[in-house]
Amino acid sequence: LGQRMYYEPQLDSTQSLAHKLALEGAEHGTVVIADEQLKGRGRLHRKWDSQKGKGIWMSIILRPPLEPQRAPQLTLASAVAIIDMLASQVNVKGQIKWPNDIFIQNKKVAGILTEMQAEQDLIQYVIIGIGLNVNQTAEEIPEDLQEIATSLQIETEQTWVREGLIQNLLKEIESVYEEYVQNGFGSIKKRWELAAYKMGDWIKVKAMRKEWDAKLIGIQNDGALIVEDTDKARKVLYSAEIDWNKG
Ligand code: BTN
Repeated sequence: LGQRMYYEPQLDSTQSLAHKLALEGAEHGTVVIADEQLKGRGRLHRKWDSQKGKGIWMSIILRPPLEPQRAPQLTLASAVAIIDMLASQVNVKGQIKWPNDIFIQNKKVAGILTEMQAEQDLIQYVIIGIGLNVNQTAEEIPEDLQEIATSLQIETEQTWVREGLIQNLLKEIESVYEEYVQNGFGSIKKRWELAAYKMGDWIKVKAMRKEWDAKLIGIQNDGALIVEDTDKARKVLYSAEIDWNKG
């Protein structure tokens, strides 16, 4: 990954440039990075605060030989790579909040936005967008996010050179991606579960038109979340809204 890198001081969104490049035929592993994003975006049409020089705002173009329904597993695999980078480079223990958030101590430090273009039953390309808060001080976190967001600088009380982190992150993503394409998600599942936020804890699930208490048990080979309800019946969640604080 990163044989071909686009580094821009300012973009609306690295996702948008990555889509454009992918449609023009950019090769697998092409990486787009911006110092600042004016219209950084998150999941569910949320905006992603992307202040100049404060974080890693990066999109990676992948061309996996997979069926479209497997794209979400790439989000899970990328999360494992971020956890490994945080452990080896920053010496912090991150946790994965299913499906796409990275937490440190109950606050979000990074998010993953996976977007895909498919034709018939094959993925044309996937764009893995990663936003990692690096050098924001507590005051620089927007007011409405104070309670829920953090940065590496806040957690470790030191500033970080983004280039080194980016290099290692790309290396980790490449290795976990290759493992995944060769052996499937089952082969990285253990690492995912070990890093999972609230594993074994009670959460509240909104799915199947109901709201219910559930205990987080694990993840399936296909990337679905496994929970257990109060009657100890196992349920499998492909998408659900979760209240992580209650249960
Ligand atoms: C989320 O938590 O909702 C996902 C956030 C993803 C943010 C990254 S920053 C780089 C890339 N470009 C964007 O506009 N979004 C992603």
